[in-house]
Amino acid sequence: MNYQPKHLLVTGGAGFIGSNFVHYWLREYPDSQVTVLDALTYAGNLQNLRGIQNNKSYSFVHGDILDTALVEKLLHDASIDTLVHFAAESHVDRSILGPDAFLKTNIEGTHSLLKAAKKIWLDAGKTTHRFHHVSTDEVYGTLTLDAPAFTEQHQYLPNSPYAASKASLDHIVRSYHHTYGLNTTISNCSNNYGPYHFPEKLIPLIIVNCLEGKPLPIYGDGKQIRDWLYVEDHCRGIERILLNGKVGEVYNIGGNNEWTNIDIVTLVCQLMDIYHPHGAPHTQLITHVTDRPGHDRRYAIDATKIMDQLSYKPLETFETGIHKTVRWYLDNEEWWRGVMDNSYKKWLDKNYSDKKPRSQVTEF
Ligand code: NAD
Ligand code: DAU
Repeated sequence: MNYQPKHLLVTGGAGFIGSNFVHYWLREYPDSQVTVLDALTYAGNLQNLRGIQNNKSYSFVHGDILDTALVEKLLHDASIDTLVHFAAESHVDRSILGPDAFLKTNIEGTHSLLKAAKKIWLDAGKTTHRFHHVSTDEVYGTLTLDAPAFTEQHQYLPNSPYAASKASLDHIVRSYHHTYGLNTTISNCSNNYGPYHFPEKLIPLIIVNCLEGKPLPIYGDGKQIRDWLYVEDHCRGIERILLNGKVGEVYNIGGNNEWTNIDIVTLVCQLMDIYHPHGAPHTQLITHVTDRPGHDRRYAIDATKIMDQLSYKPLETFETGIHKTVRWYLDNEEWWRGVMDNSYKKWLDKNYSDKKPRSQVTEF
């Protein structure tokens, strides 16, 4: 181990991956301090951080990453040495229907953090610090079926406004290392799944719709491929990078676990048939709808670098991870009903009303 974070500022720590990271970190490193900074947008929820609100190593700040003065104050007053940056607008479909928020939060917001980190750490000569930026495999664009998986050398070819915003800020983070010497690291991870995943994304949407007997929307032919990683294995990858990663480097994180959307939805339906039998097979709810514009066909991560250089290895198999996830949604109905408020219902109308069914379904 060559770096040991003492006090972490976790942006977006009330979102899906951020909250899983905070739970993981406090469990593994109870002697460190964690401050969460989160604007609590529709995707952020204090319920994701339940169970740790009385932990003396944890504090929560309700605020915006765009507020540079607030970030400077936090970094300074709490002597933060490590910033782990999850906060973002993260849903591709929302970026297609409204790109502005993505450019503002993802690009300007990250730049606000970088400026604060430069001022409080670099300008004050604090050489022991880390700025870890959590990015995505979507910056690399799409792959054909037989192409090799994305390595860190793959060309950036982002296709959605979301992916383009993440790609831009990967470059901005890189420039702060190259030009000013900020101690940055970047990880580009594949699709995550697991507890606290907001039900606008494929896997939780399918589970929740199965539970409610609603249609299961598959965009286009459903043959698009995603490379799924259990969320805690993403957190483990970030941990490896924080502790042993080389400053200025980029690491891909993934679990070598490619699935077509239709296969994964069918699998979730089969698990729902076991855990929540409903008379008819849940696959009867599957409905093909109009495709996502500019839909990337395939993502796949080559994680050789982090595996070889930082001894990273995902611990969850897909079989154990997906069972755990389905069970978690069955056991946490109060949570998912709680996050599906009016703004979520408006979102469903906005996103799916112009996605016409291409096949009929039988609703339960
Ligand atoms: P999420 O949408 O669940 O959570 C985002 C969090 O950021 C929320 O808590 C939200 O309130 C907060 N936030 C948004 N704007 C903010 C602002 N201006 N100031 C402070 N907080 C703000 O996202 P997620 O799925 O947990 O993704 C986290 C990060 O990981 C993102 O940067 C995303 O690009 C990246 N990523 C996600 C995946 C995935 O499969 N979900 C995979 C690879 C990388
Ligand atoms: O690859 C990493 C990325 O994974 C992250 O950077 C993003 O933040 C995260 O949202 C995720 O992006 P995707 O677009 O791949 O995830 P999503 O769950 O939205 O969709 C997964 C696949 O399922 C994709 O091919 C689109 C399809 N889909 C999605 C929804 C919501 C459907 O067929 N029907 C749906 O209703």
